[in-house]
Amino acid sequence: MLPDSFLLELKYRADIEQIVGAYVQLKRRGRNLTGLCPFHSEKTPSFTVYPESQSFYCFGCGAGGDAITFVRRAENLDYLEAVKFLADRVGLQVPEGSVDDTGHRRRLRILEMNREAARFFHSCLMSDQGRDARAYLVKRGLTKKTVTRFGLGYAPESWDTLTAYLRGKGYTEDELTDGYLGVRRKGGGVYDAFRNRIIFPIIDLRGAVIAFGGRNLGDKGPKYLNSGDTPVFKKSRNLYALNFAKSAGRGDLILAEGYMDVVAIHQGGFQNAVATLGTALTGEQARLIAQYTREVVLAYDSDEPGQIATRRATGLLEEAGVGVRVLAITGAKDPDEYIRTYGPEKFERLLEGSESAADFAITRLRQSHDLDTAEGRVAFLQEFVRLMADNPSPIQREVYLSKICRDLEVDKQAVAAQLAAAIKRKQQTARKREAGQLRAFTSAAPGARGELERQKYPRQVLAGEGVIAYLMKHPDSCAWVREQVEDQDFVSPGDRELYQAITAKLSQGHPAEVVTLSAVLSEERVGRLMEITTKDIYRDQSRTEAKEFIQVLQEYRNKKSDEELGRLEGEELGRYIASQTAHKK
Ligand code: GTP
Ligand code: MN
Repeated sequence: MLPDSFLLELKYRADIEQIVGAYVQLKRRGRNLTGLCPFHSEKTPSFTVYPESQSFYCFGCGAGGDAITFVRRAENLDYLEAVKFLADRVGLQVPEGSVDDTGHRRRLRILEMNREAARFFHSCLMSDQGRDARAYLVKRGLTKKTVTRFGLGYAPESWDTLTAYLRGKGYTEDELTDGYLGVRRKGGGVYDAFRNRIIFPIIDLRGAVIAFGGRNLGDKGPKYLNSGDTPVFKKSRNLYALNFAKSAGRGDLILAEGYMDVVAIHQGGFQNAVATLGTALTGEQARLIAQYTREVVLAYDSDEPGQIATRRATGLLEEAGVGVRVLAITGAKDPDEYIRTYGPEKFERLLEGSESAADFAITRLRQSHDLDTAEGRVAFLQEFVRLMADNPSPIQREVYLSKICRDLEVDKQAVAAQLAAAIKRKQQTARKREAGQLRAFTSAAPGARGELERQKYPRQVLAGEGVIAYLMKHPDSCAWVREQVEDQDFVSPGDRELYQAITAKLSQGHPAEVVTLSAVLSEERVGRLMEITTKDIYRDQSRTEAKEFIQVLQEYRNKKSDEELGRLEGEELGRYIASQTAHKK
């Protein structure tokens, strides 16, 4: 355990307003600050920062806690890593040897193993068995320098080359499968996950090898194989080559579809290219990108799927507050092929000429309709209205609307009315979807917000909440509360855990604050604690009110449900009846 004194000092120095402010645009509202929640998608701010208690809570998704909790989620770190991250920022030393770090050690082992594997794959590429793989890379135009910079490797066509090597280094079968390098065999043992593939190590911002992508050189299996999620890797939260791109010194980022595109773009002299990892862009990745740049150039494939992906990504990026330009690749299917065919200078000109996402989409739309016929113009206008309804900028909408109506010589008022109706429809579906997502979120987190007990025993749960809120505001009343309230009085297991953690801290003479509690509680529990402590009804609770809550809890004590009563027999039933009679006196 980290000493509370250290955590309190960390809380004092690492101001939550500043920490959160680096990720969320906050607006002051009274004593607190609000902004758009970085952890779920929303259009109206329900994310609140409380400078007084150095905590945050989102009324939309229930995320909440202190600066440590925030950094954990925003940076995808475990508890200890988040503490280190914050301590580094404010110049505090984390006390050594004071932590239970089994999870942390397990992750370190996997990272170490990944590094060994990356080195091994690279040496295979450079050895005799990598001859064909090297020839393949040469054929694809990669230089030795590029291969070294990206640490590319080769996984031989074998079932046990890597696994045998890593076993020899002392890694267990569990570690191999946890890290996605080995696959468990039905009859026992493990075999190599990557076989006969060019290996692209995926490196995070701290320089750690967190996962691998592998391109097939043969015809067995999919063209690309990517590590699944592991204790050190979450696909939807990482980007390929962000480790290079973040310090490229350019203002914008180029977002491509594949590893090969990124490598080729970098080799062409543009170090600001990144790619998603074998999946479509996620909202999390869009928000990650927003931390590094205000503008993205989308360099997706020129085929139909690439264009659909471009539209999707545009929406997500704009939602995250990132401006989007789109590269119009012609004469090649993707950036890699383009650079190989036409050279980096022409690619540079493509970049310079890249249009805003809206311009790009309108150009394509115009090309796909025959504007000389009335029919073609109507069809074009319908799609144009749909496109503009997706555009979040009213100014852009107005500019394009005027321009198109002028160009096509149609009545602007009619098109404008169509657009207004389309926007209204879209807002309605968006609101419905947001509500639906929230419902899904709250019911998909058992033991957290959707807890069954809260629906079944609302009165007891509310009373329990009241007691927890009172304890948080009146730590010196801990002994008084504990005399009257037992752990079992909390029907909700989650709230019981909160009560236990708070009273444990307080009765040891330690402060019970979000910052010290988040060291011993899960993120969900901390979120729940924030939900309780931010409720207005508990703000100025008197001792009398607290007493009432306690009485509600006591009333229900020992009172068993009908179902449970039905199961009681003999001696036990007798004891129960006696206890209830005694209670009534
Ligand atoms: P090359 O053919 O080597 O030039 O690859 P590419 O980058 O042009 O591939 P493509 O456009 O087909 O795919 C782009 C990205 O999608 C790849 O980098 C992979 O991350 C992913 N991808 C492609 N094929 C597969 C597949 O079969 N399975 C998975 N999981 N991902 C794939
Ligand atoms: Mn390609």
